[in-house]
Amino acid sequence: MSKLRFLTAGESHGPGLSIIVEGMPSGLELLEEDINHHLQRRQGGYGRGARMKIEKDRVSFTAGVRHGFTIGSPISLQIANKDYENWIVVMNPSPVNKQEEQVKEKLAQKYITKVRPGHADFAGAIKYRHEDVRNVLERSSARETTSRVAAGAVGHKLLDSFGVTVRSHVIQVGSTSLPQEYCGRLSEEEFKEVESSDMRCKSKLTTELMKQEIDNSRKQGESLGGIVELIVSGLPIGIGSHVHWDRRLDGILAQALMSIHTVKAVSFGIGFEAGILPGSQVHDEIQVKEENILEKSNYKHLTNRAGGIEGGMTNGEEIVCRIALKPIPTLARSEKDSLKSIDLYKKANDVAFYERSDVCVVPAGGVVCEAMAAFILADQLLQKFGGDSIDETLNNYKNYIEYCRGR
Ligand SMILES: Cc1cc2nc3c(=O)[nH]c(=O)nc-3n(C[C@H](O)[C@H](O)[C@H](O)COP(=O)(O)O)c2cc1C
Repeated sequence: MSKLRFLTAGESHGPGLSIIVEGMPSGLELLEEDINHHLQRRQGGYGRGARMKIEKDRVSFTAGVRHGFTIGSPISLQIANKDYENWIVVMNPSPVNKQEEQVKEKLAQKYITKVRPGHADFAGAIKYRHEDVRNVLERSSARETTSRVAAGAVGHKLLDSFGVTVRSHVIQVGSTSLPQEYCGRLSEEEFKEVESSDMRCKSKLTTELMKQEIDNSRKQGESLGGIVELIVSGLPIGIGSHVHWDRRLDGILAQALMSIHTVKAVSFGIGFEAGILPGSQVHDEIQVKEENILEKSNYKHLTNRAGGIEGGMTNGEEIVCRIALKPIPTLARSEKDSLKSIDLYKKANDVAFYERSDVCVVPAGGVVCEAMAAFILADQLLQKFGGDSIDETLNNYKNYIEYCRGR
């Protein structure tokens, strides 16, 4: 049913990442810089580790774009892993001479049989029958989120043509939260503040408090999770559908967001509170708008507790969605304080091994959430409005908006 889809390939320390985006209409302006902008946003944030200093992600198009415009064919994007030059022996796709002393030594250094709690290591090694756990962690690594951000940037570009924005801000890190009155909305001005904050948080004070909490965690060999709020503006009424379980927009968005590394919960609007409050405090009353006939609808909801989606469809209000990310599992601790784990080769108790790691990835996680949501919504717009060229898609969209104004 999807009109737009993407596939990714790439190991964390392999030669690079490959992304194919299929189904984009022709005629959409798309520059490598559009993608690089979002890749750079993912690399920021206070609490990141040394890897982000090595990688300066840049994309190259190898298909689907000509002279800065899509031509309707699959778009192929490549991102090189700079760190690969340090891993040429260990991660080489071609066979290496394992009899050579230097090669033997390098492979032994990076051979892993201990698994890290909280990662894919344990189940992945057993499921795929790997002796070297590296075969799991290289792909399960959140390096893969770089590819998602690249694909999402293509989605953002389509959404731009419809005047739709998908933006996030961090509302909680560990025990530090943005005051409730700042949540649930993100004006243009506030988003500028978010973009310039190390924590992607709109309040300078909360940003500082979050950073202090990260510093304390780093000293204690701890890691921190948090909550991101995602706000989508500009969508017309009726994106998604009530008619079948796999066409409901909240379900589709939740799946995409839940698939992101570290994401443990996704909620829309008042979320879990909807299970506690009585009906009159949960549902959003609807009224005729008194002004603004040039907008996309003549009606408005008096509140937005549903987070912009009712019956699996957009209702004309902003989509407001919260995403909880767990603390990253790799803890920078001495062996005696490391998390208890096992060695699959020795079949014995052991402790988690440490490989260079971040402390808090919540700000970067927000950029990944935006990317996944942008891609899903771009697909949803194409499903609703069709078209093989962007002009055709936009014409269909304009007709629909005219119709909505008449209802
Ligand atoms: C942007 C981003 C960066 C991450 N960096 C690290 C890291 O440096 N170290 C680590 O242990 N986990 C990191 N993670 C988290 C792991 O990838 C993730 O916890 C792990 O794959 C298992 O999570 P899951 O159970 O949600 O799949 C990162 C996650 C994201 C979203």
